[in-house]
Amino acid sequence: MDTTRYDQIPYRRSGRSGLQIPAVSLGLWHNFGSVDPFEEARAMVRRAFELGVTHFDLANNYGPVPGSAEDTFGRVLRADLHGHRDELVISTKAGYRMWPGPYGDGGSRKYLLTSLDQSLARLGVEYVDVFYHHRPDAETPLEESMLALDQAVRSGKALYAGVSNYPPDLTRQAAAILRELRTPFVLHQPKYSMLVPDVERGLFGILEEEGIGCIVFSPLAQGLLTDRYLRNIPEDSRAAKSHGALSREAVTEERRAQLVALNEIARARGQSLAQMAIAWVLRHPAVTSALIGASRVQQVENSVAALENLAFSADELDAIERVLAR
Ligand SMILES: NC(=O)c1ccc[n+]([C@@H]2O[C@H](COP(=O)([O-])OP(=O)(O)OC[C@H]3O[C@@H](n4cnc5c(N)ncnc54)[C@H](OP(=O)(O)O)[C@@H]3O)[C@@H](O)[C@H]2O)c1
Repeated sequence: MDTTRYDQIPYRRSGRSGLQIPAVSLGLWHNFGSVDPFEEARAMVRRAFELGVTHFDLANNYGPVPGSAEDTFGRVLRADLHGHRDELVISTKAGYRMWPGPYGDGGSRKYLLTSLDQSLARLGVEYVDVFYHHRPDAETPLEESMLALDQAVRSGKALYAGVSNYPPDLTRQAAAILRELRTPFVLHQPKYSMLVPDVERGLFGILEEEGIGCIVFSPLAQGLLTDRYLRNIPEDSRAAKSHGALSREAVTEERRAQLVALNEIARARGQSLAQMAIAWVLRHPAVTSALIGASRVQQVENSVAALENLAFSADELDAIERVLAR
């Protein structure tokens, strides 16, 4: 493995914490399950690590089948990266339905802490670096969920705590509880891309004020903001897969016209559309890392190379805004 990998890409401080994560991180939501070819999944993780990507994002339910992405990552760790555990930031989450009955979903102490134990077993590690509550649960007192994250950290099963998909007000309340507990709350994980910019209003300001890092998921809008759908829906794409979370209906003619126009702006910058979409999320000062997905090694390489050109001129940003306003 290339030992100069840490000189190749920027690492950014997560909020006001001591933790640095790469400006591009790899998520294992799609394409790392038991339905996917193990060797391709393994090659993507290995290549990302070679390129300096130290952060890998998982959740209890990633697959399909749920749990199998953690199994896959655990296999790759054992086979290829076992000597590198301390060079990696591995995160997992609980918050969506994972097993039957009242304890396999939500935000209870029972669910979060037992799920973390299951994740550690699948991953084959003693601790994860970040443990997230995956989504808010209106049925559980916020304090109970935050005390469970605190317990995860105090027990040494997680080093840091995070939340995902929490709206601004609840994020503020979660930060207050975790501050009182002196629990390191280092990352929020919201959805953010050129096509889904909502968190710019509200959430980002709170994260900057509170000093919490932000790792944004689906910066490529699940593949829409790439060259994948400029002409048609490729048979091996997420929109064509029955277990993909992107529907064919999302690829409308209006959307395609927008993507073609964005692709032209990217081309003029000397970038692929995926690269421009990643640079675009990273331009916001609240954003610590772009959390990408990939289905093949070449996509990992292309996306990480976005970091070679992160600067935008005012004219480029205006041109992008005009296309997005259509
Ligand atoms: N916290 C949450 O609730 C939540 C929710 C969703 C995701 N996430 C996290 O965020 C991660 C990323 O989400 P995502 O997979 O939706 O991200 P994404 O980066 O928006 O989309 C990834 C897809 O874009 C295509 N792609 C990626 N790089 C490309 C490139 N350079 N050129 C052309 N196409 C490219 C691939 O599509 P094809 O597969 O069609 O090739 C790939 O599967 C997940 O793995 C997970 O860790 C978290």
